[in-house]
Amino acid sequence: MSVYVDYAATTPFDKEILEEAVNNAENFGNPSSIHRIGKDAKADLQKHRKRIAECINAKPNEIILTSGATEANNLAIKGISEAHDKPHFITTDIEHASVRTTYQNLSEEYDVTFLSAKENGQIDAEELKSSLKDNTVLVSVMMVNNETGSMQPLYEIAETLKEHKALLHVDAVQGFGHMDIDVENIGADLLTLSGHKIYGPKGIGLLYLKEGIKLSAQITGGSHELSRRAGTENIMWVHAFSLAMEKAASERSKRTIKEMQMKERFLNELTEKKIPFEVNGDVNNQSSHIVNIYFRWTEAEFLLTALDMAGIYVSAGSACNAGTVQPSHVIQSMYNDEKRALQSIRFSFSHLMEEEDISEIVNQLEKIYNRLYEREMI
Ligand SMILES: Cc1ncc(COP(=O)(O)O)c(C=O)c1O
Repeated sequence: MSVYVDYAATTPFDKEILEEAVNNAENFGNPSSIHRIGKDAKADLQKHRKRIAECINAKPNEIILTSGATEANNLAIKGISEAHDKPHFITTDIEHASVRTTYQNLSEEYDVTFLSAKENGQIDAEELKSSLKDNTVLVSVMMVNNETGSMQPLYEIAETLKEHKALLHVDAVQGFGHMDIDVENIGADLLTLSGHKIYGPKGIGLLYLKEGIKLSAQITGGSHELSRRAGTENIMWVHAFSLAMEKAASERSKRTIKEMQMKERFLNELTEKKIPFEVNGDVNNQSSHIVNIYFRWTEAEFLLTALDMAGIYVSAGSACNAGTVQPSHVIQSMYNDEKRALQSIRFSFSHLMEEEDISEIVNQLEKIYNRLYEREMI
């Protein structure tokens, strides 16, 4: 028996959605062509865009379709920075690499403040408030951290920013499908999403950009996406993305209840089997689908390999860094403890999992723990 428990890295493509998108792909035209075939394709594209926009309470012209959230985050940050003179930015130490690395590169030229997280996994909204400067143009704070599942105090941050001209950019990739995402309620000016985290296609995502905000395009060419992102649109994937968003939104409570049950059962079974562990962050302020565990008794790299050999597929942190297990920058920011950052593993659950999957994960962990423990005793 094997168990995939890495749904924050990616999710399987929903077969019904794939089928529906493929079966409706007869409008093969280029939406930029002015003949009938092109116009039909454009009408399809706009229909899907409208449905996508409705899922986050946005307007269709506020949706910029991209190749994924990495591109959308790059577009948000670089696009806003290039539209300003001598800007200051605020972000956090715990962002996904697509935000963090972009800011690290920008910080060679511009003023960027990086806020660290507290042990509960959250940044301090008051610290953010006191970091604001007259020339702060953009504040980037993620909704749900991809390694720990911790939810950030976005409403407090948005409240603070009401009295400041800085824009709020929210990476909501790990939030959609697990919590309600309404750009008005959140107070986001820019927001990013990705298709493959919600049982949709890989290679598609979006940047929500509030009407009236100017940003400079990063991919130039034709006037696609209202001149904000050039390139012929992949209508079939846009369709599939819209279906995945609608399904994730309509099934949200059912899915999150199941995820929560899986997570609770996992923590209970670890406790029952007396496998020593500590949850990183505050378990009561986390998304239903992610938990990050510190195992004092072994290194993450060893545990990942041992679990992989036992058919349990899991990550040490963000998948982008999973090829090489380095200390997690998120756990480092929270605890300032390199040992902990090297000995923590993210488990991420799905409504597709069953109780026996959880028991299998814990049984395999128990075997590994017992093997190590006996060895140490010899
Ligand atoms: C929080 C977060 N932001 C951005 C991304 C990047 O998304 P994509 O794979 O669509 O580029 C990910 C994916 O791991 C993520 O978890």
